[in-house]
Amino acid sequence: MQQQADVTFRLQPGGRLQGRMRVPGDKSISHRSIMLGALADGVTEISGFLEGEDALATIAAFRAMGVRIDGPVQGQVTVHGVGLHGLQAPAGPIDCGNSGTTMRLLAGLLAGQAFDSELVGDVSLSSRPMRRIADPLTRMGARIELSAAGTPPIRIRGGQRLRGISHQSPVASAQVKSCLLLAGLYAEGRICVSEPQPSRDHTERMLAGMGYALQRDGTTVCLQGGGRLQAGRIDVPADISSAAFFLVGASIAEGSDLVLEHVGINPTRTGVIEILRLMGADIEVLNPRDVGGEPVADLRVRHALLRGIRIPEELVPLAIDEFPALFVAAACAEGETVLTGAAELRVKESDRIAVMADGLRTLGIDAEALPDGIRIRGGRLSGGRLASHHDHRIAMSFAIAALRASGEIVIDGCAIVNTSFPGFAELARQAGLRIETAGATM
Ligand code: S3P
Repeated sequence: MQQQADVTFRLQPGGRLQGRMRVPGDKSISHRSIMLGALADGVTEISGFLEGEDALATIAAFRAMGVRIDGPVQGQVTVHGVGLHGLQAPAGPIDCGNSGTTMRLLAGLLAGQAFDSELVGDVSLSSRPMRRIADPLTRMGARIELSAAGTPPIRIRGGQRLRGISHQSPVASAQVKSCLLLAGLYAEGRICVSEPQPSRDHTERMLAGMGYALQRDGTTVCLQGGGRLQAGRIDVPADISSAAFFLVGASIAEGSDLVLEHVGINPTRTGVIEILRLMGADIEVLNPRDVGGEPVADLRVRHALLRGIRIPEELVPLAIDEFPALFVAAACAEGETVLTGAAELRVKESDRIAVMADGLRTLGIDAEALPDGIRIRGGRLSGGRLASHHDHRIAMSFAIAALRASGEIVIDGCAIVNTSFPGFAELARQAGLRIETAGATM
């Protein structure tokens, strides 16, 4: 997926965040709603779908495999499921754009098909590690080829007989776990995946919601191949990973008082709330409710004085996408924040440890990259010019830093924000961020 003309964010310092807002739909759940909807028997109606490029790449992939998908129109999508064995061979390589979730989950699914396939991605995705899925898929009997460096493109030979395995994943990764569960749908016998710590469990919840039997015990999940999925309704909550920029922004900016509506608060995703609260943040969880098997609430966040902490390592997988924003919170906190046990951050859409440490130093903050984390001493943020490094969350994290900066912040390469948060600049401006965009309409 090619970015068109790129966008620069220009932020004037100061401001505060106020009012009520609903951020776009959860990216992880949006991907899975298309994938499982396509494999189900019957029609799946989705609301709240994320109309960002990553989730649109997943829609395009399934259309290329013959699935009729109507929408998205204002977050509504209709997927006409073809059943587990109804996908057709795509005419060419499937472009996953910037989306690791599209690529890794599809690889598992495609390993069980009768046809050959190839998955490609953009410059960022093309450098991300894929042996973590290719090795266990190969043990299941799949035939997979990667580049010599273990990166995309991924070439998958169809028509293989898959068998269930027990896989002990060395990393807590929902993408690895979900990839293998999807391959497991096509396997003879039982697939079991164990992780060192729990990762997000949206795949398990959605499979169960569609009537597929799973066995869960601690951080192990198993399923038996050969079942069926039943279509239904899926209501996608607002993405806590997108809400995170505003949780941090309102926490650091004096006078802020903001309500984020209908946010998914699945306990495998709420590490950002726990970490911010440990730092002294004032976040209230209002009106908690259950929406189609996923917990949802409104989050009220008010300005608070933050203090540096040692981030508990067990919270790392539960906040894995929120660390760039949390590092901005740490830069605004009193004292030192230390994160360890987070080497995974080096293989996200960018090396988020190196990129954030460099960027914070550009803004005058004492930040030191560690092999598996970062040390940040809170201080006074200056203005400066930064790059997104083809990473949406880097761009949005430095944008909210402007709330506490003493000079203008300019961020280049911000079209990538559309992968997960279309309309970010507009929504943030309405809430009080002094943001202008140049180069294209966001
Ligand atoms: C995701 C899992 C996480 C996360 C990514 C989305 C998912 O990746 O960082 O943004 O939807 O399964 P890992 O599984 O690599 O930790």
